[in-house]
Amino acid sequence: MNNVTGTAFIVAEFRAEENEETHPLYTDNVVKFWLNEETKTIASAIAQNSPAAKELVKLRTKYFDDVLSNQVLGGCKQIVILGSGLDTRAARINGEKVTYFEIDDLATLQLKEQTLTANKVSANVRYLPGDYVKDGLISLLKQNEFDFELPTYFLWEGNTTLLAKKDVIFVLEQIRDNVNTFRLSFDYMSEQVICRTTGYQDINDYIDKYESMYAPWITGFEKIASLAEELNLKVIENFSTADLHAQYRPLRSRESNLFKFYFVCTLENMSDNRLELQK
Ligand SMILES: C[S@@+](CC[C@H](N)C(=O)[O-])C[C@H]1O[C@@H](n2cnc3c(N)ncnc32)[C@H](O)[C@@H]1O
Repeated sequence: MNNVTGTAFIVAEFRAEENEETHPLYTDNVVKFWLNEETKTIASAIAQNSPAAKELVKLRTKYFDDVLSNQVLGGCKQIVILGSGLDTRAARINGEKVTYFEIDDLATLQLKEQTLTANKVSANVRYLPGDYVKDGLISLLKQNEFDFELPTYFLWEGNTTLLAKKDVIFVLEQIRDNVNTFRLSFDYMSEQVICRTTGYQDINDYIDKYESMYAPWITGFEKIASLAEELNLKVIENFSTADLHAQYRPLRSRESNLFKFYFVCTLENMSDNRLELQK
């Protein structure tokens, strides 16, 4: 599991655990189809070394579920999930004529499609196998009947920390320059975590243990507002997972200082971006 693709199974294990809560933040009855003794053993070994990891995944799941649901309720008909792994939202959160586009590698998407079909889970989703950096996000979308004029919600969960910074920026630019109207949510780590300058030894220890079992964290951002400004995008929301924890789990104490350095955000394009390009 020490590779980026395998990370999807670990995340799925962490996400599934919330179903056992008396008052869960969300319910995911689909994710169990991909989980087995092997994924459980690996995920619990990681969680033993880094217990906060599970909670971070659950908090971000709740946040992205809520943003996506609101987009669908607001009439959004196109949803793109980058590096979708074992994301189950296409089956869990739907609306009339809402189409999902999921991008990940062929093996992951094939497994996904076959499992959903075998278990009679319906989802209006187009699977786009490929690498959204190397193959190009826009050409993958072009080949798959994506409507560039339709308002679109992009979800990019559990990916930016694993990519080179230039690739994260390239993806953001591609969306900005080609999609007429969009909102985009993603999670990101503070650059201080990557550079090991948070001042918290427990965080440095955490990364060392986590990286040895998972996949290396290579990219973080210090100020999302500055990144957005450079790219001419607007920040709609930006929360640390410490904020989310206080909001969603007011009666529980936080397990790690890392929550203060791991964020979720939602951006949107400025209406003049495409006009500028057309000049
Ligand atoms: C940590 S998992 C997260 C999966 C899912 N988004 C979630 O949060 O449950 C990262 C996923 O992104 C995929 N991924 C990473 N970089 C990618 C790229 N450049 N193109 C396509 N998929 C990518 C991996 O294959 C993996 O399934």
